[in-house]
Amino acid sequence: MRLSAPRLDRITASPTLATRMLAQRLRAEGRDVLAVSSGEPDFDTPEYIKEAAIAAIRAGATKYTDVAGTRALRQAVAGKFRRDYGIDYTEDEVLVSSGSKQAIFNALLATMVEGDEAIIPSPCWVSYPAIVELAGGTAVIVPCEPAGGYKLAPAQLEAKITARTRWFILNNPCNPTGAAYDADELRELGAVLLRHPEVNILTDDIYDKLTYDGFPTATVVEAEPRLRPRTLTVNGCSKAYAMTGWRIGYAGGPRALISAMEKLQGHSTSNASSIGQAAALAALTGPEESVTAMRETFSRRRDMVVALLNDAQGLLCHKPLGAFYVFPDISACLGKATAGGAYLADDGAFVAALLAEEGVAVVPGSAFLAPGHFRLSFAAPQDMLKEACLRIQRFCGALS
Ligand SMILES: Cc1ncc(COP(=O)(O)O)c(C=O)c1O
Repeated sequence: MRLSAPRLDRITASPTLATRMLAQRLRAEGRDVLAVSSGEPDFDTPEYIKEAAIAAIRAGATKYTDVAGTRALRQAVAGKFRRDYGIDYTEDEVLVSSGSKQAIFNALLATMVEGDEAIIPSPCWVSYPAIVELAGGTAVIVPCEPAGGYKLAPAQLEAKITARTRWFILNNPCNPTGAAYDADELRELGAVLLRHPEVNILTDDIYDKLTYDGFPTATVVEAEPRLRPRTLTVNGCSKAYAMTGWRIGYAGGPRALISAMEKLQGHSTSNASSIGQAAALAALTGPEESVTAMRETFSRRRDMVVALLNDAQGLLCHKPLGAFYVFPDISACLGKATAGGAYLADDGAFVAALLAEEGVAVVPGSAFLAPGHFRLSFAAPQDMLKEACLRIQRFCGALS
């Protein structure tokens, strides 16, 4: 009996979900655990969005929708792209999926063949390489250095493009580093891509509403419209509107690609939840005050967390431009022993000892293909974040 296909051997289970489950288990056992590892806003979905979903249920919007999403929502998505970036997509250049993860899955599975390569700057969200591998492709990881703000330089991109490159995957702003590219930086990367017409671009802009200190959010097609015929712009409601559980993501791109994605989705989940779509419609067409309020809160937390972690012995913490994570470099702590006697051989050992000795749950950098770091999410209440950072200071201060 075969209970797992060989293609699954190419991937490992999501390490971020694994951390969350471990923290939950320890809590259920009565341990005092501060979980600052989560990839979702701690805020509740805004009330007007919930009300729209309730109204949709009452109005009987409980049936299948078009595979690509309701017309109203696709128009609202097109409206978002126009409003925020000045990009014009028609309804049939938009696909709504069960989360942006499915949109990415659709795109890569619909287009990649064995031997194709996808270039992915790292540190990166772990699902990109996993989905590329599931699609039969090869993930070409390009490490980005702290000195460059963890951003990909145009020369690095140029150096990795081969005749096999099918996709370049950019996450802007980036999970886990918070690195964000402005329009000029995107144009510079775009200049490289214009020289390689066989390469498609997938830009995952899911954190685009969450940039700080007025950092000007930009997206690839806005910065370099000549890349429009081969760029897929992915986004979703999870992060900006605190809607992770509603599972609504979307993508805008060339019609042929969107049709291929729709064909695939038609045989997997069909449409995203009709009720989730009604909620997403309210989110994309409603007032932006709640997004602004969340962004301001995230910004205050970011400042506090960065300051506290930089005061921890051996940690070096960059200030993220966007998203809601910090990704401190812990290399100076490795090779040392903790107060509890654990030897910190690598980031995995650091994270395990931090959880065991101080009850603080973070995610190891190796989960993002960047060993020697951990990711802490500031999508958690300010007092919990402060306490977590103070415990991290104590943990690092006791290393010998
Ligand atoms: C960079 C990035 N892209 C996509 C997703 C998936 O989001 P969704 O809830 O829309 O599937 C996440 C979630 O953590 C993410 O961090």
